Amino acid sequence: MFISFEGIDGSGKSTQLTMLREWFESRGSGVTVIREPGATLLSESIREILLSTKQSITPTAELLLFSAARTQLVEKVIEPALESGSIILCDRYVDSTTAYQGYGRGLDLTAVQAINSIATRGVMPGLTFFIDVRYEQAQQRMQFSEGGGEPDRMERAGREFFNRVRDGYLAISQQDVKRFVVIDGYRDRASIHFDIISEVERRLHTVSS
Ligand code: ADP
Ligand code: TYD
Repeated sequence: MFISFEGIDGSGKSTQLTMLREWFESRGSGVTVIREPGATLLSESIREILLSTKQSITPTAELLLFSAARTQLVEKVIEPALESGSIILCDRYVDSTTAYQGYGRGLDLTAVQAINSIATRGVMPGLTFFIDVRYEQAQQRMQFSEGGGEPDRMERAGREFFNRVRDGYLAISQQDVKRFVVIDGYRDRASIHFDIISEVERRLHTVSS
Protein backbone atom coordinates (compact mmCIF):
# COMPACT_ATOMS: atom_id res chain seq x y z
CA MET A 1 0.00 0.00 0.00
CA PHE A 2 1.44 3.34 -1.10
CA ILE A 3 -0.10 6.42 0.54
CA SER A 4 0.93 10.04 -0.08
CA PHE A 5 0.14 13.23 1.82
CA GLU A 6 -0.30 16.53 0.02
CA GLY A 7 -1.10 20.13 0.91
CA ILE A 8 0.49 23.55 1.08
CA ASP A 9 3.42 24.12 3.44
CA GLY A 10 2.25 24.16 7.07
CA SER A 11 -1.09 22.41 6.39
CA GLY A 12 -0.35 19.61 8.88
CA LYS A 13 0.74 16.80 6.53
CA SER A 14 3.79 15.65 8.49
CA THR A 15 1.78 15.60 11.73
CA GLN A 16 -0.82 13.31 10.16
CA LEU A 17 1.78 11.13 8.47
CA THR A 18 3.48 10.54 11.84
CA MET A 19 0.14 9.69 13.48
CA LEU A 20 -0.68 7.22 10.70
CA ARG A 21 2.78 5.69 10.91
CA GLU A 22 2.29 5.10 14.65
CA TRP A 23 -1.11 3.60 13.95
CA PHE A 24 0.35 1.13 11.43
CA GLU A 25 3.29 0.30 13.74
CA SER A 26 0.97 -0.36 16.67
CA ARG A 27 -0.68 -2.99 14.46
CA GLY A 28 2.70 -4.57 13.72
CA SER A 29 2.89 -3.46 10.07
CA GLY A 30 6.24 -2.57 8.46
CA VAL A 31 6.22 1.05 7.29
CA THR A 32 8.63 2.90 5.01
CA VAL A 33 8.43 6.66 5.56
CA ILE A 34 9.69 9.03 2.89
CA ARG A 35 9.75 12.79 2.48
CA GLU A 36 9.99 14.49 -0.88
CA PRO A 37 12.34 15.76 -2.00
CA GLY A 38 14.64 13.47 -0.05
CA ALA A 39 15.17 9.92 1.24
CA THR A 40 18.26 9.16 -0.87
CA LEU A 41 21.64 10.90 -0.68
CA LEU A 42 21.20 12.42 -4.13
CA SER A 43 17.62 13.51 -3.44
CA GLU A 44 18.64 15.12 -0.12
CA SER A 45 21.43 17.01 -1.93
CA ILE A 46 18.95 18.23 -4.55
CA ARG A 47 16.59 19.22 -1.71
CA GLU A 48 19.29 21.47 -0.27
CA ILE A 49 19.77 23.19 -3.62
CA LEU A 50 16.02 23.63 -4.11
CA LEU A 51 15.27 25.05 -0.67
CA SER A 52 18.37 27.23 -0.32
CA THR A 53 17.78 30.96 -0.63
CA LYS A 54 21.34 31.51 -1.93
CA GLN A 55 20.48 31.34 -5.62
CA SER A 56 17.49 31.86 -7.85
CA ILE A 57 16.19 28.88 -9.86
CA THR A 58 14.06 29.19 -12.98
CA PRO A 59 10.65 27.42 -12.91
CA THR A 60 11.77 24.85 -15.51
CA ALA A 61 15.02 24.12 -13.68
CA GLU A 62 12.95 23.74 -10.51
CA LEU A 63 10.63 21.26 -12.25
CA LEU A 64 13.56 19.18 -13.49
CA LEU A 65 15.37 19.20 -10.14
CA PHE A 66 12.30 18.02 -8.19
CA SER A 67 11.78 15.36 -10.86
CA ALA A 68 15.40 14.18 -10.78
CA ALA A 69 15.16 13.82 -6.99
CA ARG A 70 11.94 11.84 -7.43
CA THR A 71 13.14 9.39 -10.01
CA GLN A 72 16.17 8.48 -7.89
CA LEU A 73 13.82 7.92 -4.96
CA VAL A 74 11.44 5.75 -7.00
CA GLU A 75 14.19 3.45 -8.26
CA LYS A 76 16.24 3.25 -5.09
CA VAL A 77 13.58 3.23 -2.37
CA ILE A 78 9.95 3.06 -3.49
CA GLU A 79 10.15 0.19 -5.98
CA PRO A 80 12.19 -2.05 -3.63
CA ALA A 81 9.87 -1.22 -0.70
CA LEU A 82 6.80 -2.07 -2.76
CA GLU A 83 8.40 -5.35 -3.83
CA SER A 84 9.10 -6.23 -0.19
CA GLY A 85 5.43 -5.64 0.68
CA SER A 86 6.11 -2.66 2.97
CA ILE A 87 3.56 0.08 3.48
CA ILE A 88 4.92 3.34 2.08
CA LEU A 89 3.94 6.69 3.55
CA CYS A 90 5.19 9.59 1.47
CA ASP A 91 5.23 13.22 2.65
CA ARG A 92 4.55 14.73 -0.81
CA TYR A 93 4.89 13.00 -4.19
CA VAL A 94 4.20 13.82 -7.80
CA ASP A 95 1.02 15.85 -7.11
CA SER A 96 3.27 18.44 -5.44
CA THR A 97 4.94 19.00 -8.80
CA THR A 98 1.62 19.45 -10.59
CA ALA A 99 0.36 21.81 -7.88
CA TYR A 100 3.55 23.84 -7.25
CA GLN A 101 5.36 23.88 -10.60
CA GLY A 102 2.26 23.50 -12.80
CA TYR A 103 -0.41 25.62 -11.08
CA GLY A 104 1.87 27.66 -8.79
CA ARG A 105 4.69 28.58 -11.20
CA GLY A 106 2.40 28.46 -14.22
CA LEU A 107 4.36 25.90 -16.27
CA ASP A 108 2.53 24.17 -19.10
CA LEU A 109 0.47 21.39 -17.48
CA THR A 110 0.90 18.96 -20.37
CA ALA A 111 4.68 19.33 -20.18
CA VAL A 112 4.58 18.87 -16.39
CA GLN A 113 2.49 15.74 -16.87
CA ALA A 114 5.01 14.32 -19.33
CA ILE A 115 7.96 14.95 -16.99
CA ASN A 116 5.95 13.50 -14.09
CA SER A 117 5.37 10.23 -15.86
CA ILE A 118 9.07 9.92 -16.69
CA ALA A 119 10.06 10.69 -13.09
CA THR A 120 7.59 8.30 -11.43
CA ARG A 121 8.17 5.48 -13.95
CA GLY A 122 4.40 4.98 -13.62
CA VAL A 123 4.63 4.25 -9.88
CA MET A 124 1.66 6.00 -8.25
CA PRO A 125 0.11 5.96 -4.77
CA GLY A 126 -3.17 4.11 -4.38
CA LEU A 127 -4.37 6.70 -1.89
CA THR A 128 -3.56 10.41 -1.48
CA PHE A 129 -4.72 12.60 1.39
CA PHE A 130 -4.92 16.29 0.50
CA ILE A 131 -4.98 18.24 3.77
CA ASP A 132 -6.77 21.41 2.79
CA VAL A 133 -6.19 24.71 4.59
CA ARG A 134 -5.75 28.21 3.22
CA TYR A 135 -2.45 30.07 3.12
CA GLU A 136 -3.30 32.29 6.13
CA GLN A 137 -3.98 29.29 8.37
CA ALA A 138 -0.86 27.45 7.22
CA GLN A 139 1.26 30.55 7.83
CA GLN A 140 -0.11 30.86 11.33
CA ARG A 141 0.67 27.21 12.05
CA MET A 142 4.22 27.55 10.74
CA GLN A 143 4.88 30.59 12.94
CA PHE A 144 4.15 28.52 16.02
CA SER A 145 5.94 25.45 14.73
CA GLU A 146 9.02 24.22 16.64
CA GLY A 147 12.16 24.54 14.52
CA GLY A 148 10.17 26.62 12.03
CA GLY A 149 13.05 29.04 11.51
CA GLU A 150 13.47 31.25 8.48
CA PRO A 151 11.23 30.55 5.47
CA ASP A 152 12.97 28.50 2.74
CA ARG A 153 13.07 29.46 -0.95
CA MET A 154 9.69 27.86 -1.70
CA GLU A 155 8.00 29.28 1.42
CA ARG A 156 9.02 32.78 0.30
CA ALA A 157 6.88 32.52 -2.82
CA GLY A 158 4.00 34.41 -1.14
CA ARG A 159 0.24 34.43 -0.80
CA GLU A 160 -0.76 34.56 -4.51
CA PHE A 161 1.52 31.64 -5.31
CA PHE A 162 0.12 29.49 -2.50
CA ASN A 163 -3.45 30.38 -3.48
CA ARG A 164 -2.72 29.04 -6.97
CA VAL A 165 -1.11 25.91 -5.49
CA ARG A 166 -4.18 25.27 -3.34
CA ASP A 167 -6.52 25.80 -6.32
CA GLY A 168 -4.31 23.35 -8.21
CA TYR A 169 -4.68 20.72 -5.51
CA LEU A 170 -8.46 21.18 -5.52
CA ALA A 171 -8.52 20.77 -9.31
CA ILE A 172 -6.36 17.64 -9.39
CA SER A 173 -8.30 16.08 -6.50
CA GLN A 174 -11.45 16.42 -8.57
CA GLN A 175 -9.79 14.82 -11.58
CA ASP A 176 -8.96 11.64 -9.64
CA VAL A 177 -11.64 11.13 -7.01
CA LYS A 178 -10.78 7.45 -6.54
CA ARG A 179 -7.24 8.17 -5.39
CA PHE A 180 -7.72 11.52 -3.65
CA VAL A 181 -9.36 12.10 -0.31
CA VAL A 182 -9.77 15.80 0.50
CA ILE A 183 -9.48 16.43 4.23
CA ASP A 184 -10.75 19.59 5.94
CA GLY A 185 -7.48 20.58 7.62
CA TYR A 186 -9.02 23.19 9.94
CA ARG A 187 -10.13 20.60 12.47
CA ASP A 188 -8.04 19.33 15.39
CA ARG A 189 -5.35 16.71 14.84
CA ALA A 190 -7.30 13.82 16.40
CA SER A 191 -10.42 14.37 14.26
CA ILE A 192 -8.35 14.48 11.10
CA HIS A 193 -6.47 11.35 12.15
CA PHE A 194 -9.77 9.58 12.78
CA ASP A 195 -10.95 10.35 9.22
CA ILE A 196 -7.63 9.19 7.81
CA ILE A 197 -7.61 5.84 9.60
CA SER A 198 -11.27 5.28 8.71
CA GLU A 199 -10.39 5.70 5.05
CA VAL A 200 -7.28 3.50 5.33
CA GLU A 201 -9.28 0.75 7.07
CA ARG A 202 -11.94 0.95 4.41
CA ARG A 203 -9.30 0.53 1.68
CA LEU A 204 -7.59 -2.32 3.54
CA HIS A 205 -10.91 -4.17 3.76
CA THR A 206 -11.62 -3.55 0.09
CA VAL A 207 -8.20 -4.97 -0.85
CA SER A 208 -8.56 -8.06 1.36
CA SER A 209 -12.20 -8.84 0.46
P1 ADP B 1 3.39 20.35 7.05
O1 ADP B 1 4.09 19.02 7.14
O2 ADP B 1 2.17 20.28 6.17
O3 ADP B 1 4.30 21.48 6.67
P2 ADP B 1 3.18 20.16 9.95
O4 ADP B 1 2.58 18.82 10.19
O5 ADP B 1 4.65 20.32 10.17
O6 ADP B 1 2.80 20.70 8.48
O7 ADP B 1 2.36 21.20 10.84
C1 ADP B 1 2.68 22.58 10.87
C2 ADP B 1 2.40 23.10 12.30
O8 ADP B 1 1.00 23.05 12.54
C3 ADP B 1 3.06 22.27 13.41
O9 ADP B 1 3.43 23.14 14.46
C4 ADP B 1 1.96 21.33 13.86
O10 ADP B 1 2.10 20.92 15.20
C5 ADP B 1 0.73 22.22 13.69
N1 ADP B 1 -0.48 21.45 13.37
C6 ADP B 1 -0.57 20.31 12.63
N2 ADP B 1 -1.84 19.90 12.53
C7 ADP B 1 -2.61 20.80 13.21
C8 ADP B 1 -4.03 20.93 13.47
N3 ADP B 1 -4.91 20.06 12.98
N4 ADP B 1 -4.42 21.98 14.19
C9 ADP B 1 -3.54 22.88 14.68
N5 ADP B 1 -2.21 22.83 14.48
C10 ADP B 1 -1.73 21.80 13.75
P1 TYD C 1 9.30 20.87 2.94
O1 TYD C 1 10.05 21.58 4.01
O2 TYD C 1 9.37 19.38 2.87
O3 TYD C 1 7.81 21.34 2.98
P2 TYD C 1 6.64 20.83 3.89
O4 TYD C 1 7.20 20.49 5.25
O5 TYD C 1 5.66 21.94 3.91
O6 TYD C 1 6.13 19.64 3.14
O7 TYD C 1 9.78 21.51 1.57
C1 TYD C 1 9.44 21.03 0.35
C2 TYD C 1 9.05 22.22 -0.50
O8 TYD C 1 9.19 21.88 -1.87
C3 TYD C 1 7.63 22.65 -0.29
O9 TYD C 1 7.56 24.07 -0.36
C4 TYD C 1 6.90 22.08 -1.49
C5 TYD C 1 7.96 22.10 -2.54
N1 TYD C 1 7.82 21.08 -3.61
C6 TYD C 1 7.60 21.47 -4.91
O10 TYD C 1 7.51 22.68 -5.20
N2 TYD C 1 7.51 20.52 -5.88
C7 TYD C 1 7.64 19.20 -5.62
O11 TYD C 1 7.55 18.34 -6.53
C8 TYD C 1 7.89 18.79 -4.25
C9 TYD C 1 8.04 17.35 -3.89
C10 TYD C 1 7.98 19.77 -3.27
